[in-house]
Formats: sequence, C-alpha cells, structure tokens
Amino acid sequence: MQFAKYYGAYVIALASASKKDFVLNLGADEFVDYKTQRFEDVVQNVDLVVEAVKADGHILRSMEVVKRGGNLISLWSGVTPEEATKAKRLGVNAFYNAIQYSGGDMKFVARLLKKGKLIPHVSKVFPFEAIPEAHIEIGKVHTQGKIAIQVNETL
Ligand SMILES: NC(=O)c1ccc[n+]([C@@H]2O[C@H](COP(=O)([O-])OP(=O)(O)OC[C@H]3O[C@@H](n4cnc5c(N)ncnc54)[C@H](OP(=O)(O)O)[C@@H]3O)[C@@H](O)[C@H]2O)c1
Repeated sequence: MQFAKYYGAYVIALASASKKDFVLNLGADEFVDYKTQRFEDVVQNVDLVVEAVKADGHILRSMEVVKRGGNLISLWSGVTPEEATKAKRLGVNAFYNAIQYSGGDMKFVARLLKKGKLIPHVSKVFPFEAIPEAHIEIGKVHTQGKIAIQVNETL
C-alpha cells in the first residue's frame, strides 16, 4: 500500500476493524472492514487489485471490482483455468507475481525508508532459533506489518 501511495495511487485497503487506524495512518484513502462488508458492494471499477488473501474463491471475487482493461496481481497463487476464464470474460488482466530479489530494489526501498516515505512496522521479533514459531505466527494471517528474525551476531 505504501508503495502505491508513493506512486500517487488512490488506495482502498481491506482489513478488520482493529487495524483501521493503523491502515489509515499509513496513508490509505479508504478502509473496508472485510468482516462486516462485502468489498464488492462498496468497491468498483478500480484499475488494480493486489490480491493477498489466501482464501478459496477470493481471486474470483476480487476480479469483479476491476475495470475492463485493469489488472489483478495475485501474490499467493497462480491463476487457475477457472479464474483465467472469468478474467477474460471481464476483460481483466489477472496474473501471479513473485518477488524477484534485486539489489537495486533494496537500495530504492532503503532510500524511501531514509526519506520517511516508507514507515516500517514490526509486530514481533523472533530469535533465529525460533524460525518455526515465526512461521506458525505468520500462518495465522493476522500479522500487523511484518515479523522479523533476529540473527545472533556470533552465528
Ligand atoms: N508473491 C510474492 O512475492 C509474495 C511476497 C510476500 C508475500 N506474499 C504472499 O502475500 C500474502 C500476504 O502476505 P502478507 O505478509 O501481507 O500476509 P499477512 O501479513 O499474513 O497479512 C495479514 C493481513 O491480512 C488481513 N486479512 C486476513 N484475512 C483477510 C481477508 N479475508 N480479507 C482482507 N484482509 C484479510 C489481516 O487483517 P486482520 O488481521 O484485520 O484480519 C492482516 O492485516 C501471503 O499469502 C504471502 O504468502 C507473496
């Protein structure tokens, strides 16, 4: 979301009510509580959906709010044949994208952090030895911000 704001986008963010202030403070223009509202009822005709919700049928729902000619980027799953067929009917360009590690991108992120254009939020720090517990925590899908691993300097 913060990258989208940096590039001048109007951002509609989804989370549950407890995260409303957090999300708005990070710059979201609108907030939708996905637990009390169907986002399709209040969001329409957007240029881009960034799909991060790992739930059956969510991609099929999300593409309904994208305008013809717009894009849906899935962060967690490839587009199934059923999703591809619906996307074609709706005129939506739906695809999966995974992070490509790049020193240049990391430098860009570091510059934004330095300028205060990107606000990091770490909700929990786990020691290196507790990586399995960190995975369990992230698997709960209710993390606010990020989970970090602290590496012991003697390793
Ligand atoms: N392709 C890639 O390169 C790449 C890179 C990073 C991450 N990913 C994937 O992207 C996904 C998101 O990663 P993340 O690190 O942002 O996950 P995350 O930290 O676990 O995201 C949790 C957030 O999602 C919200 N949420 C949970 N269920 C929701 C729903 N049904 N509708 C709307 N919001 C919901 C939660 O809000 P509440 O707590 O308020 O419910 C919470 O704020 C994961 O599947 C991850 O594997 C992919």
